[in-house]
Amino acid sequence: MASIFVEFGAKFILSLKTSGALKLIGFITIDCGSNEDYVDEETKIPYISDKGLIDTGIVKTVSSDSPANHLRYAKNLRSFPQGTRNCYTLRPEQGKNNNYLIRATFVYGNYDGKNQKPIFDLHLGVNEWTTVNLTNSGAYGYYYDIIHVPLTDYIDVCLINTGCGVPFISALELRLLDNSIYPTQGRALTQMWGYDVGRNRSDFIVRYPNDTYDRIWEPSLFDWIPIKTGSTIYSENPYNLPDVVLRTAAKTQNSSLPLILSWSPPDSFSKCYLYFHFVEIEKLEAGQQRELKIDLNGERYLTESVKLDYLKPQTIAQNDPPISGEQIYFSISAAEGTKLPPILNAVEVFVLKDFPNKPTAIDDVEAITDIKKLYNVTRNWQGDPCVPSEYSWDGLNCSGDNHPRIISLNLSSSNLTGEIATSFSNLKAMQSLDLSYNDLTGPLPEFLSELLNLNTLNVSGNNVTGSVPEALLQKFRHGKLALSVGENPDLCLSVPCKRKKKKEVVVPIVASSIAAVLVLLFIFSALIIYRRKRKGEVVSITNNFRTIIGGGGFGKVYLGKLKDETQVAVKLLSASSNQGYKEFRAEAQLLMRVHHKNLVSLVGYCDEGAKKALIYEFQSSGNFNKKSDVYSFGIILFELITGRTAIVRGPMRNNHILDWVNPLIERGDVQNIIDPRLEGEFNSTSAWKAIEIAMSCIPSFVIQRPDMSYVLAELKECLALEMAYERTQRMATKGNLTTSNTPFKMTHLEYESDIVPHSR
Ligand SMILES: *[C@@H]1O[C@H](CO)[C@@H](O)[C@H](O)[C@H]1NC(C)=O
Ligand SMILES: *[C@@H]1O[C@H](CO)[C@@H](O)[C@H](O)[C@H]1NC(C)=O
Repeated sequence: MASIFVEFGAKFILSLKTSGALKLIGFITIDCGSNEDYVDEETKIPYISDKGLIDTGIVKTVSSDSPANHLRYAKNLRSFPQGTRNCYTLRPEQGKNNNYLIRATFVYGNYDGKNQKPIFDLHLGVNEWTTVNLTNSGAYGYYYDIIHVPLTDYIDVCLINTGCGVPFISALELRLLDNSIYPTQGRALTQMWGYDVGRNRSDFIVRYPNDTYDRIWEPSLFDWIPIKTGSTIYSENPYNLPDVVLRTAAKTQNSSLPLILSWSPPDSFSKCYLYFHFVEIEKLEAGQQRELKIDLNGERYLTESVKLDYLKPQTIAQNDPPISGEQIYFSISAAEGTKLPPILNAVEVFVLKDFPNKPTAIDDVEAITDIKKLYNVTRNWQGDPCVPSEYSWDGLNCSGDNHPRIISLNLSSSNLTGEIATSFSNLKAMQSLDLSYNDLTGPLPEFLSELLNLNTLNVSGNNVTGSVPEALLQKFRHGKLALSVGENPDLCLSVPCKRKKKKEVVVPIVASSIAAVLVLLFIFSALIIYRRKRKGEVVSITNNFRTIIGGGGFGKVYLGKLKDETQVAVKLLSASSNQGYKEFRAEAQLLMRVHHKNLVSLVGYCDEGAKKALIYEFQSSGNFNKKSDVYSFGIILFELITGRTAIVRGPMRNNHILDWVNPLIERGDVQNIIDPRLEGEFNSTSAWKAIEIAMSCIPSFVIQRPDMSYVLAELKECLALEMAYERTQRMATKGNLTTSNTPFKMTHLEYESDIVPHSR
C-alpha cells in the first residue's frame, strides 16, 4: 500500500493513504452529526463522521437562515434528548501519558427551532471540564479547549444534561502536543484565551495549517501600536508558534509606558497560568537590544529581565506558583535603563482544572467494555462505568473507594446471546453476577469459579449446556455461592454429565459424592426440573409400576430403569392426595436446601395434570430411604431447636446450619443455640438432649445413624424432662417462691458439662 509522507513543520507528518483519505498524525477531528468524511476546504483538516463512534443521540441541522449553515463542521450536530450522560470516546493512536489538546465546539444555530440556547455540563473522563453556557453565544457558537495528559489510552468526552436544555455538540477535536509544553502535572488546563497580538480584530483567526498543533489564535491589538515584519520566523522552541502569529506584535509609544494586561479570572480561587511569547521583529541598530521586565499586581513577577533576539522566538512561562485573585494586572515594561518600548507577540492564559476523581480500575473498564461490545448491550453504557457515581452504568454497582471496582453486574433479561465470555472472569472484584433470562448458550464456564469474591451467580433461564463445573458446585455446597442455574433445559449438575444425547424423560442433576447417604435434593423447582409431558414414559420406565421399593404419605416409590440401564426411583404422587403433595413439596424443599457434601440426587420430573412423579437416582449406598430420612430429620430438629433455616443467609455468603451450630456446640454455648424467641425459658438439660438427638442423626456414614424408633424414644424422654421443668416453674411462680428453682438449675449445670456432645 503506497503512502506519501510529506514533512510538515518540525513535527507533523501528513500521510496520504491510497484510499484518498487524508490523515493527520496526532489529529482526531470529528464532525458530529455529519454523515460522511471530508476534508475542510479552508483548513485542509480531514473531518470524520461520528456515525461509527457513538450510538446515542440524534442528528440535527442548524436552521437554514443561520450563518453557521455555511460552515461545514457546524451545519450538522448531534443532539442528546435521551439520557443524562452521553459520551464520545476518543482513542488517540499515541495512547496514554501524552499531552493532548482537546476542543469541543458548540454551534446552536436554532437547530431545534426553539430559539432557546441550552446550558449543560461537559466532562472530560470522570471529571468536570466546564459548563457549556451558550446563552450569550453568537451565530458561530463557542469552542472550549482543554489540555490534558490522560492516564488511560482512551479519553471520554461527556455531555451532561443538567435540566437547562438538551445538550448537543457540533465538533470534537483532539491534537497531540509536545509533552514538554503547557505542563499540567496530572491535572488539566482550560484555555481562557490565546491572542495573536498586533493583528486587527477583523482579521481571520489563525489555526491549522499555520499552527501545527491547531491552536486557535484570535487577533487582538488591544489599544497598542501594531508592528510587523515580512521576514520568516522559525520557531526553535517546542511551543512552535506559527510564523504568522509571531510576525505581528504590539508596542507602546515609548519606553516609559508599559503594556498592561488585566482580567478577572472565573473566581478568585482560579489558578491561572500565563504564557508570553516574544520575538524581536524590529531590525535594531547594532548594539541595541530590547530588554523587558514583567510585573504582576505591581510586584516583580520575573526576577530576571527578558532579552529579545532578532527573529528568535522565546516563550516565558512561570508555572509555579500559579496566579490567582479577583483581578489580575500584568505589566510588561522596558527594563530599567533601557530605551526601547516593550513589545508582545502573543499571549495565552489558562486556568488549572483539578481532576479529583479517579477512574474505574482499567482492567474492569476493559472487561466491561468487551462485554458491552460482545453482547451488543443496548443500554446507555457510556463514559466511565462507575464514576461519577451519579452517572454510573445502569445494571452495575461499584465499590466506593478511590479506585472503584465493579462489584456487581446485572444483565438479566438483556437479550444476551452466544457463550459466556471470558471477559466476565476479568471483573476480578465481582461479587454478584446475574445473567438470568437471556439466550446464552455453550457451557457454564469453569473460569467463573476464579472470581474469588463471587457470592451470587444466576444463569437461570438460558440455554447453557453441559455440566455445572465442579468448582462452582463446591462453592455452592459450602455455602459460599448462591448458584441459580434453573430453566436451562440442557444443563446438568453432575460431572461427568450422565444425560443421554437423546431426549429422555430424566435429567441427572446432582453428582453424588463417595459417601453413603442419599439425600434427595430438590434444588428450586426450576433449577432441576426438566418437564416432559410424554404420556407413558413413566409407565415404561417403571415397567408398568412393577416393583414397589417404598412408600410414604405422598404415595408409593417404584423401581425404574432408563434406556441406558441407569436405575432410578420413581416417587409417584397419588392423584387424590392434596395433603400428600404439600407434604412432599415441604420435604423436597427442605432437602433441597440441605447441601451437604454427602451428596444429592434428583433426576427428573413428570407433570401430567393430576399425575406428578419425581424421579431420583437409585443407589442400590441399602435402606437409603430410611436413613436419608433420619439425616433430614436431624436437620429439621436443628431448625426447630435454633429457630433458623437450614441455610442461614449472610451478607457475604450463606451458611449451612451445621456450620453455624457446630462451633456453638463445641463451646457448650446452649444459650446462643436455642431459638431466641424462647427468651431463655427452657430447661438446659432437655435442650442439650434435643441437640444431642439432632447430632446423632447426621453422621456422614449411614451406619452411624440411629433408627427412627431410637430417635423417637429419645425425643419422648426429652419431652418428659421439659414437662417436669415446666411444672417446677409453674409451682415456683404460684407460690412466689422465686428462689426455689435455683438449686435445680445449678444441679443441672453441673450435669450438663458431662453431656455436652462433641462434634462428630
Ligand atoms: C446495586 O445496589 C443497589 C442498592 O444497594 C441495589 O438496589 C441494586 O440491586 C444493585 N445492583 C446490582 C446490579 O447488584
Ligand atoms: C437483576 O435485575 C432484575 C430486574 O431486571 C431483578 O429482578 C433481579 O433481582 C436483579 N438481580 C440482582 C442480583 O439484583
